[in-house]
Amino acid sequence: MIIAVDGPSGAGKSSVCREVAKRLNWSLLDTGAIYRCVALTAMEKGVDTDPAECGKIAQALDIRFVADKSGQKVFIGERDVSKDIRTFETTQCVNRVAPMAEVRAQLLDIQRRLGQSTNTIVEGRDIGSVVFPNADLKVFYTASAHARAMRRLKEFQAKGETIDFEEVVKQIQLRDETEYNRKESPLIQCEDAIVLDTSDLDFEQSCQALMKLIQDKCGV
Ligand code: DC
Repeated sequence: MIIAVDGPSGAGKSSVCREVAKRLNWSLLDTGAIYRCVALTAMEKGVDTDPAECGKIAQALDIRFVADKSGQKVFIGERDVSKDIRTFETTQCVNRVAPMAEVRAQLLDIQRRLGQSTNTIVEGRDIGSVVFPNADLKVFYTASAHARAMRRLKEFQAKGETIDFEEVVKQIQLRDETEYNRKESPLIQCEDAIVLDTSDLDFEQSCQALMKLIQDKCGV
């Protein structure tokens, strides 16, 4: 079984998919992490604005996901890059690298290979539309820009930091615009996807809602 979960940034899709995969004892394929590995390598080699070089990096990418207590660690070769791929710099860089056609073409095979072994939740932006168009279930996981900004605000408050709420809403809207309007594999809501709007749901309710969709469809 393959469950494709697509949706915009910052809706909490990754954490919910991770938790649901754990509860069902399924595999999780976080495709954003694959793009982040390409961006990190390209950034470290100083070629992150060169689509041909980024494509070569994607083609040669030796990525591994290793389950551990906290979820999943990500390795490039023998190097644990779990933290390095989540830094602010890598996030800025991946937003430039992920739209490159050369990169996307190379990563298709890797994603299909990694996603096909067992029951897997595959999460990203173009999973239902491009990577696994025949997925057993397609979910479009979303939340309003306002709700996503509120979640971000709470994360900052929990760390004792302050951020300007209106500024966060603006950033989220800008990022949405880029993801929905890019030329290569834009974020789209597939016609056969079930929309899961989590604007009014907390984390546990979001997990329950996704679990229910999977259970109803797959009988697990
Ligand atoms: O989900 P994330 O924030 O880790 O994704 C990192 C970047 O990769 C983000 O710019 C969106 C992009 N991405 C993509 O274009 N296609 C995917 N299937 C997954 C992520």
